[in-house]
Amino acid sequence: MSTPELVQARLATLREQINLHNYHYYVLDAPLISDAAYDALLRELRELEAHHPELITSDSPTQRVGSVPASHFAKVQHSVPMLSLGNALDPAELRAWRERTLRLLGDVPIAYVVEPKIDGLAVTLHYHAGQLVLGATRGNGEVGEDVTANLRTVRSIPLALHPQPDQPDQIEVRGEVYMRLPDFAALNARLAAAGERIAANPRNAAAGSLRQKDPSITATRPLRFFAYQIAAQAGSIQPASQLDALHYLQRLGLPINREVQRFTDFEELIAYTEMWMARRETLDYEVDGLVIKVDDLRQQYELGVVGRDPRWAIALKFPAREAITRLLAITVNVGRTGVVTPNAVLEPVLLGGVTVSSATLHNADYIRNTGILIGDYVVVKRAGDVIPQVVAPVLERRTGTEHVFTFPTTCPSCGTPLERDPDGVAWRCPNLSNCPAQLVRRVEHFVSRGAMDIVGMGERQAELFVELGLVQDVADLFSLTAAHLDGVEGFAQKRTENLLSALDVARTRPLERLLIGLGIRYVGSTAAELLVQRYAHLDTLMQARADELQELDGIGPVVAESIVAFFAREDNRALIEKLRAAGVRFDSDHVREVRGDQLGGLTFVITGTLPTLSREQATALIQAHGGKVTGTVTKKTSYLVAGESAGSKLTKAQSLGIPVLDEAGLQAMLGAHIGIDRETNELEKSP
Ligand code: IVH
Repeated sequence: MSTPELVQARLATLREQINLHNYHYYVLDAPLISDAAYDALLRELRELEAHHPELITSDSPTQRVGSVPASHFAKVQHSVPMLSLGNALDPAELRAWRERTLRLLGDVPIAYVVEPKIDGLAVTLHYHAGQLVLGATRGNGEVGEDVTANLRTVRSIPLALHPQPDQPDQIEVRGEVYMRLPDFAALNARLAAAGERIAANPRNAAAGSLRQKDPSITATRPLRFFAYQIAAQAGSIQPASQLDALHYLQRLGLPINREVQRFTDFEELIAYTEMWMARRETLDYEVDGLVIKVDDLRQQYELGVVGRDPRWAIALKFPAREAITRLLAITVNVGRTGVVTPNAVLEPVLLGGVTVSSATLHNADYIRNTGILIGDYVVVKRAGDVIPQVVAPVLERRTGTEHVFTFPTTCPSCGTPLERDPDGVAWRCPNLSNCPAQLVRRVEHFVSRGAMDIVGMGERQAELFVELGLVQDVADLFSLTAAHLDGVEGFAQKRTENLLSALDVARTRPLERLLIGLGIRYVGSTAAELLVQRYAHLDTLMQARADELQELDGIGPVVAESIVAFFAREDNRALIEKLRAAGVRFDSDHVREVRGDQLGGLTFVITGTLPTLSREQATALIQAHGGKVTGTVTKKTSYLVAGESAGSKLTKAQSLGIPVLDEAGLQAMLGAHIGIDRETNELEKSP
């Protein structure tokens, strides 16, 4: 094919695909692909058409506002078209948009407002003499659907406006109908329990709920509304700016979003948008981007509309959190406490900048409730630093070749019949002492960095040693000799020597590391630290009763019971004797040395990787100066100490306004340079 033919062919394919997706999205409320994938198609089509304007056809999807409205509602001709928004994907594209507004307005001062782009669906509300008389969806932007009866069930939409001295005779208000995340989760749980189809995300749930034929069903759906625009009004004062308009809407009794900011300095605006990437994670509703609008309504009018997008506003799109891909298989994984979890094997898909090829399916009930089949196209979601999860099947893409996943009734590793966890939905392999898969996970955990930190050991070696029968419990690691490792894959002489000396180092690790390594349920680094402060030797801890343990601030009844139960088990006691015989240290070197009280009364949370201190060392440092360290950020937290790759704790602290320190900041608080002696692992204070 020649180049023009290639372009023609690509244009035809793009148009066909976009039309198909428009139909599924707008008419069926059941998109086949993610928004990001759709946007990419549309962008490509726009760009190709911009380069080849002679090839634009009047029926190209770029030549209209939206798409076909579906049938079962009366049509509403919008008095003012409901526009869409141009997209910017990064600050450079935002600056380019700003340059255009400046050029068009002739270099005058321009103020902007930034609003969250609520991920719901746009509606328009007509009030006559203060009464809600008509509510419609956007439809194709020119013609929408009359969903008045359904909108009247949405409690945040006033049926009558609050009387005002400057009450408008008629006003048309635009805004977004959406669903909050907890409400969405509860709705899906309810639908699943009733054997009904669940929604893939809050937006689809909101759209589906609003387009119900029976308003009494809509009434049971937790829909909400934010107003963001006055489309038209008669007989009252006109607000001068977007901010004025929002305040006016608020006075009329309409809900507006609080997260609105005005900027005169565009670089400050850009910095603000960057801060939003983290704030997004803290909201209880989905925000898929930010809308940046020219604040002055006269300037908006002057800028006008090009095609279907206003020149006075632009959407800054956040990275996608959802993608659609194929579920190739479901594998089950046996964890270190015997919990059997299903995992999705996915056709690799790009999601928020990383390639995702596996995701969690939580548990057996989840698979049943969502109705996911092997072979389905599924919606995969990844939010913040949370591991990806499979959310829902895309039913429209079923071909009939998909099949039901049967959860195993016996452990895939040792064959023991699985038992239902009494305190939840999990299935568990009860063979705690002899299940090879559990043992591999336990060894992996024991040798990990946060626990005994045995350099040269990892998942591969754990699997290998268990498979070869070299270790039957974690204590066996310490009896490994060069003779055992002779001929083992990957263990040449040097590697063997390194491992043996790493094991010698591990023998001397303090008690808190051993406690973490034992994998007692609910005992991670925070609980282990608390325990060694009170019980400096394993033998005394083993004798502690649950009520004594609970006296420790931070150890609750569940954790206390779990510790007592662990040490009561015969096999665990035998394991501990084996560790003792192998020369593993049972005491802690933090017989708490008090170096000061600078941090007295303060509570810290540590997150991320600090440049020089390990988390344990930072904890010791804080405690040695009278401070307390806990694992969760609450209103009571005094400071968050954050290192590299800090995740949700940082976001939470920021949202609660809790001050955040880096390692240097922490040390500065201690008034002198205090560090950890890298040789002895002890606290040291430089003169
Ligand atoms: S202003 C000129 N403000 O985004 C268009 N839209 O892609 C007026 N949206 O259809 C839209 N939050 O459904 C505006 N704060 C906000 C918004 C918002 C969500 C949606 C709306 C619109 C779509 C445009």
